[in-house]
Amino acid sequence: MQVSPCILQRLRPTLPLPPVLLPPYFHYYAQRRVAAASASSREQHRLMSPDLVALEYDDLNLTHKVSHELGHVRIRQHVNPLSAPFSIPIQVPDWNQVFKDPTLPLMVDIGSGSGRFLMWLAKRNLDARNFLGLEIREKLVKRAQFWVKELALDNVYFLFANATNSFKQLVSTYPGPLMLVSILCPDPHFKKRHHKRRVVQKPLVGSVLNSLMPGGQVFLQSDVFEVAIDMRYQFDSEANSLKHIHELDSGMLCDSDGWLLRNPMGIRTEREIHAENEGAKIYRRMYQKCM
Ligand SMILES: C[S@@+](CC[C@H](N)C(=O)[O-])C[C@H]1O[C@@H](n2cnc3c(N)ncnc32)[C@H](O)[C@@H]1O
Repeated sequence: MQVSPCILQRLRPTLPLPPVLLPPYFHYYAQRRVAAASASSREQHRLMSPDLVALEYDDLNLTHKVSHELGHVRIRQHVNPLSAPFSIPIQVPDWNQVFKDPTLPLMVDIGSGSGRFLMWLAKRNLDARNFLGLEIREKLVKRAQFWVKELALDNVYFLFANATNSFKQLVSTYPGPLMLVSILCPDPHFKKRHHKRRVVQKPLVGSVLNSLMPGGQVFLQSDVFEVAIDMRYQFDSEANSLKHIHELDSGMLCDSDGWLLRNPMGIRTEREIHAENEGAKIYRRMYQKCM
């Protein structure tokens, strides 16, 4: 009779589970959690990640703004953007209904998550820029739009969209110039056979490049090295049209491997806050389209 490794584990709790039973990302995040736990035992009064997010975004004052319709928003691990429900490209909105002035320069955040990051930027750039978040998880979008209303911001908007098949169509109809595209801590889809689900694929890189205004920028970051390398490779390959920012601006400092030392946006994203709290490094690149 074959005894399952889980039963063996229960009988002999000191025996480690065979690695093959665990998903590939288990070890990655488990190592992080161990690192974070030992760090927190050193710092007894260390703040937890959600508190740090609330603190960093204190200025938005969203903590008590809860939508009764949505309640508590629970989030599934990953969505498969190649599955049938996400294969239909989005209907382009009437930009005049979406933004107060749809001719302003636009920043698009692909995979905008909770949306706090864009709301924070929008609040600081009223009447100067518009911000569009594309997010494949509908509940996050609904909550973000609820917050946008509460904050009475008319220069930021969130769309329930699969960026993979909607980005090009959306930005090509926007009346103003596209000045910045960010892809920040995208879902890693660790398994090799799932890499095709990653949001940064050649057609999207091409659309970003074609849609950006001259001098427009792309900001990428990830706390997962192999994802950062994958994105970097794809954008570095466009060296005829894109320059890395440190070649143009000596103030944008990089480490010896060419990763930007600091986030140039003035605020960290939520994933970035969680990852840094666990002691992870964030790998960043910023490109500028040639004039
Ligand atoms: C790990 S979260 C990072 C969120 C945020 N950028 C941050 O740094 O905190 C990645 C987000 O991208 C969204 N996403 C994944 N694939 C997408 C796609 N094809 N189109 C739009 N959003 C996508 C996910 O639903 C998720 O909210």
